[in-house]
Amino acid sequence: MHSRNLHDVFAETETPFYFYDMRLFRRTVGELASLSSRYGIRVHYAVKANSQERLMKYIASFGFGADCVSGNEVLYSSRCGFRPENIVFAGVGKTDREIISSLKLGIGTFNCESLDEISVVNSLAASLGVRANVSVRINPDIDAHTHKYVTTGLYENKFGISRHEFEPLVQLLGQCGSVNFQGLHFHIGSQITDVAEVYGLECRRAAEIVTWFEDKGLTVENIDLGGGLGVDYEDPDGSPVPDFALWFRTISENLPLRPWQSVHVEPGRSVVAQCGTLISRVLFVKSGETKTFLILDAGMNDLIRPALYGAYHKIENLSALHRPGNFPVSAASSDAAEGLQAYDVVGPVCESSDVWGAGRLLPQSRRRDVMAIRSAGAYGQVMSSRYNLRDLAPAVYSDDLLPQEGE
Ligand code: LLP
Repeated sequence: MHSRNLHDVFAETETPFYFYDMRLFRRTVGELASLSSRYGIRVHYAVKANSQERLMKYIASFGFGADCVSGNEVLYSSRCGFRPENIVFAGVGKTDREIISSLKLGIGTFNCESLDEISVVNSLAASLGVRANVSVRINPDIDAHTHKYVTTGLYENKFGISRHEFEPLVQLLGQCGSVNFQGLHFHIGSQITDVAEVYGLECRRAAEIVTWFEDKGLTVENIDLGGGLGVDYEDPDGSPVPDFALWFRTISENLPLRPWQSVHVEPGRSVVAQCGTLISRVLFVKSGETKTFLILDAGMNDLIRPALYGAYHKIENLSALHRPGNFPVSAASSDAAEGLQAYDVVGPVCESSDVWGAGRLLPQSRRRDVMAIRSAGAYGQVMSSRYNLRDLAPAVYSDDLLPQEGE
């Protein structure tokens, strides 16, 4: 994405906007498709990570399923081409209206998160004269070694059903005449980078829990291990496509399957993070008492991850890279660190937490320089808001800017 060509196009385009590198996106989805079919693992894309219609339709065209967390995501996924029977619906707080619309659509699975929810799904299905396919989300009490706001599989988290409710759960399932029990669902967290260790543990714990339910006489057909595969925020160009092979190998080595069982996963971030970049401009360079601020025209309303989680996103000054006499320098290479300056890169929003990065080493930067905030494709545009009545940053696709990139 560093071609002069692209920089010139960015420089002529109103900022901020989300730029999607469609070549990288297609490569990522293609690798996910070939590796998942090699390992016989079924993929449901986690729509919450990015619901841009163009991306959704492309993902759906591979026959992947969709992992949804609201009634609207369910209906929208179906409109984007995901087959209803491949849609799974998770979430701790499904409303009656969302359950009814999903039952009418005939979705593949409700990933139920509490005993109460199973009873409600059962009675709503009965009232519609249909049967609901239900998997039970289990809280396996596993530490995913990730940020506390994206850890979901510990007993202290609100997600899933914990061990002390397993016995009453089995009894309840026996009484639910309008529910087909399909299997078990797990999702322990997001941005998991200790892939072999954490997923290995998840699989071994899942296998124990599956056996427990089988011993109670239930047939567990689906084992859904959730999403969470992390991406490299530090070095997006070094690792543009996440290591799906390691993820799937870990699963196949640690989760023994019976012939009637299938494994499902729900990746979101790993599919879309690296193809998305938030493109912004320097509005002002301001000398503070102790530091220099680069004030960008993109703010926390456009991408809330740094303000909300203290998340790191690599920042590049694309214009400086293309100025005559400059050569591509990166803070990562120490001998090139000369000529770099420390900036606090901030947004325009009226909040002190609207900071893209403090003390970032960047080339000398000027007003109107085009800036790239990398790895912004997941949980970026979907979490943006109109706070301060700011406009929503639109999506711009590489295929439209550089048509020769299209395949
Ligand atoms: N399945 C379930 C049940 C989930 O709750 C999630 C994410 C996923 C799959 C997809 O996880 P992924 O592969 O994307 O890690 N806004 C936060 C991330 C929240 C993740 C919520 N659940 C962030 O920006 O880091």
